[in-house]
Amino acid sequence: MQKAQELCRKTSTLFVLDEVQTGMYRTGTFLAAHQFGLRPDMVVLAKALSGGLMPVSAVLMTDKVYHAVYSSLKRAIVHTSTFSENSLSMRAGLATLDVLEREDLGRARCSSARCFAPGCAADCPASTW
Ligand SMILES: Cc1ncc(COP(=O)(O)O)c(C=O)c1O
Repeated sequence: MQKAQELCRKTSTLFVLDEVQTGMYRTGTFLAAHQFGLRPDMVVLAKALSGGLMPVSAVLMTDKVYHAVYSSLKRAIVHTSTFSENSLSMRAGLATLDVLEREDLGRARCSSARCFAPGCAADCPASTW
C-alpha cells in the first residue's frame, strides 16, 4: 500500500481507498489506513456506517479534493440516484458515528483488536477522520 501511495503521489494520481470492509474500526483503527501511515485523498465507506441496517455509504475526501472538484456544481459531474442522500439513511449513518463517539467504542475496539500492521500494538494512532 505504501508503494501504491508513493506511485500515486509521483504521478499526481488521487490515492483512493475502499474501506467498505475494513473501515469503521473493523480492523482496529477507524480506517485500516491509519495502521499503515497512509494518507488517502479519498476513502469509501459503507455497510458498517449504518450498523448494516440501512443502505448508506459515504465518500470522505481531503479539503483539497473537495475544493478542486465538489465545492461547485460548475466543476463537478453529479452522479446520483433516486434515493441517494435520503434522510433515514443519513440519520442512520450519523447515529452510528454518534454512538461510536459517545460510547468510545472505537477506543475499546482499538485496544482489544489485533491490528494487521506489523508491530502495531495498543498505541495505534487514533483516527482524525
Ligand atoms: C470492499 C467492498 N467495496 C465495495 C462494496 C460494494 O458495496 P455496496 O454493495 O454497498 O455497493 C463491497 C461489497 O461487498 C465491498 O466488499
